[in-house]
Amino acid sequence: MRIFCCEDYADMSRKAANVISAQIINKPNSVLGLATGSTPIGTYENLVARYEQGDLDFSDITTVNLDEYKGLSGEHDQSYRYFMNYHLFSKVNIDLSRTNVPDGTEPDSDKACADYNAIIDSVGGIDLQLLGLGHNGHIGFNEPSDCFDKLTHCVDLTESTIEANKRFFEKVEDVPRQAYTMGIQTIMSAKKVLMVVSGEDKADIVAKAFAGPITPEVPASALQLHQDFILVGDKAALSKLLQ
Ligand code: F6R
Repeated sequence: MRIFCCEDYADMSRKAANVISAQIINKPNSVLGLATGSTPIGTYENLVARYEQGDLDFSDITTVNLDEYKGLSGEHDQSYRYFMNYHLFSKVNIDLSRTNVPDGTEPDSDKACADYNAIIDSVGGIDLQLLGLGHNGHIGFNEPSDCFDKLTHCVDLTESTIEANKRFFEKVEDVPRQAYTMGIQTIMSAKKVLMVVSGEDKADIVAKAFAGPITPEVPASALQLHQDFILVGDKAALSKLLQ
């Protein structure tokens, strides 16, 4: 595990974009695993800026996103497909047909998950997986549990996740109660994993996940076992891990 301690959110975003840029330059046909949430937005902004400067080419890149709300279509402005189109895909020269997000409109969970696992297999696995970190230690929508879920599965979101996400919806009742998410095994199979964390409110969970025991009660703790895991965080988020 390598840790980059950054001055602030802007610095974190630039350094995370450095890691992703290096991946794209070294392997122009990389498969990138991508995340949504508020933390990676600055990373995507940096990637778009580098594309606009002519320093990055996304034309051979394939992407697979971590997760999607069950029941939301890509046109819904809170769907993760919409987020990705808005923050990255519409702003770079990526081939949209090579961008993949679980199909939130598929009501049959088993089918949605099997289809997504097949897509991940068909692209040959993930070269670099970008992650954020939930306040309860979740990665993707892998919530605290008594076992590590392996492949794509349908999850019931916890009250704390629903609470954290309600800021994006008009009212809490509108927040979907289920989501499709990649499993821990798929995330752990990525050749490289890059996590971005920012803010004092993440300091406790960062310390618990990366200095505490490896347990499915803190899903991100599994990353302690990954061979090429890079944690890029600002000083506030890393304050309790590095003290
Ligand atoms: C996003 C995702 C989530 C977020 C996590 C942190 O695709 O899967 O695990 O990464 O909830 O979200 P933010 O960055 O908003 O704190």
